[in-house]
Amino acid sequence: MSSKTLVFNVLVTLLLCLGLAAAKKPRAHYIKPCSKSAPDFDECCVAHGREALPFIVQGDKEYKIPSLNPLELSEVSLDSNGFKIAMKHLQAYGFDKNDLRKVKFDFDKKMADIRIFFDKLELLGDYEVGGKIILIPIEGTGKANFTIVDIDVNYTINYKLVDKEGEGYFAVDTSSADFTCSRTYIDIADLFGGNKELSDATNKALNDNWDQFIDALKPVVTQTIVQIGDAIINGFGSTVPFNDIFYD
Ligand SMILES: *[C@@H]1O[C@H](CO)[C@@H](O)[C@H](O)[C@H]1NC(C)=O
Ligand SMILES: *[C@@H]1O[C@H](CO)[C@@H](O)[C@H](O)[C@H]1NC(C)=O
Repeated sequence: MSSKTLVFNVLVTLLLCLGLAAAKKPRAHYIKPCSKSAPDFDECCVAHGREALPFIVQGDKEYKIPSLNPLELSEVSLDSNGFKIAMKHLQAYGFDKNDLRKVKFDFDKKMADIRIFFDKLELLGDYEVGGKIILIPIEGTGKANFTIVDIDVNYTINYKLVDKEGEGYFAVDTSSADFTCSRTYIDIADLFGGNKELSDATNKALNDNWDQFIDALKPVVTQTIVQIGDAIINGFGSTVPFNDIFYD
């Protein structure tokens, strides 16, 4: 894909209450621990993760977890070779319809692979766009709706254990994500200063080429997923000792 060679500038701003340095807290009641030495450790993580997700999606101020129902982002933007898009007051709906499919830890490499599926993510917000994407010229400001269907996400983290008063706390060191989807619906209202004919034709062209469009926007979507995943893991990880969640 030629898009891989482009230089991307991606900005995602999570509305997080950062607060003071986190104090030690007990596990949230909905986070059940798993034994690292158990032969079914990975399955335990998936089962307990599935039980915890409905609570996590609601958000939990205690652990600095933002609400994901909907998730509100103040700004998400992408600036890459001749194409700029910024979405403000972004609301993302659909994180509540999820299916955690895999959790695989490698304690030696301090890595974890997480696979999670969402039926549909609906991203609504105020857009500002200019330039050319997949050779289609596009210009304007207004309301946009990007709806991504059957999102299958792989999220990989490299973590470290941070020592606080003799106990290890889980922290994301680096992370990345990739996803596939079965369809993306694009509705960018009032393009070209509200020229309906041109706006409709452009939306049609984008929808006809939805797979290339979502591929071009992949860096900003994966970056958003990574920021959310990191915020959740660091929210629990910085307050609850690692051994209280994953015991020997
Ligand atoms: C966004 O687009 C999807 C797919 O076309 C549609 O089902 C949904 O109703 C739209 N949402 C809003 C708020 O218009
Ligand atoms: C996610 O990982 C699985 C293997 O666990 C692989 O089969 C799948 O193709 C990956 N999907 C993406 C989008 O990378």
